[in-house]
Amino acid sequence: MSRIVYVNGEYVPEEAAKISVFDRGFLFADAIYEVTSVLDGKLLDFEGHMRRLHRSLGELEMAEPCDDATLEAIHRELMTRNALREGLIYLQVTRGAADRDFLYPAEAVPSLVLFTQAKSLRTSPAAQAGVRIISAPDIRWGRRDIKTVQLLASAMAKMEAKKAGKDDVWMTEDGFVTEGSSNNAYIVTQDGTIVTRDLSNAILHGITRAAVLRCAREAQMKVEERPFTIEEARGAAEAFFTSASSFVMPVIEIDGTPVGSGAPGPVARRLREIYINTALESGS
Ligand code: PDD
Repeated sequence: MSRIVYVNGEYVPEEAAKISVFDRGFLFADAIYEVTSVLDGKLLDFEGHMRRLHRSLGELEMAEPCDDATLEAIHRELMTRNALREGLIYLQVTRGAADRDFLYPAEAVPSLVLFTQAKSLRTSPAAQAGVRIISAPDIRWGRRDIKTVQLLASAMAKMEAKKAGKDDVWMTEDGFVTEGSSNNAYIVTQDGTIVTRDLSNAILHGITRAAVLRCAREAQMKVEERPFTIEEARGAAEAFFTSASSFVMPVIEIDGTPVGSGAPGPVARRLREIYINTALESGS
């Protein structure tokens, strides 16, 4: 059965959804996006995703497609029309269609597209077993804090992981881990401290990251926001990553070396449970 998707004011079957070949999202990757998870029919961390959307739009001087109440109503309408109880809602805003020109066109009207992806998020075989990752140089641009759709470098890196028989990739720059292909990276040191890279233009400011760090601090866990190397990660007690699509995902192997016991660790498992419960309590 085909999905109903939202395109520029209309709800249409996915086969009927159309965007101009002059759309700057297509020609320049001049577009930003958000991915919000849905669990038990609730939107998780929705306000955080809206805040980051406005920040991305502002950094690119891109017009707001509509107000937040309308965006929320579209999310909910898509959940209803597609009977989505668990999965993801993808939202993309582009600068719109205009004759090809590197300069931002003054007259372009933003394009707005949303669609649902049904996915089992809570019960995940990967979260049960843990995932294996490789490291690779981070060849992305210098404004990774803006959530743009230029994801080819990440797709290439993730394909390398797949070819190596692994699940994902952590990227490194100047000797330190930046983040995962589509997630934020963490280790747990031998003395139990949770370490994740501090916020800057080098990484996306994950909405799940903010929520998970809040949960960790509330549970009296020690948190340090600083860069770490792959060598430190390989010698850590645990490793894991976070995102809207994976929540908290244990990493059990890095570049062929088992991390800790080689199985999902207690800190990652506990944080996954606390995060899901907290997100459900505050979700709506
Ligand atoms: N990706 N870092 C990168 C590069 C990402 O693409 C993502 C999310 C994250 C985690 O952010 P958040 O916790 O807000 O989901 C970090 C989404 C899920 C994606 O591209 O599908």
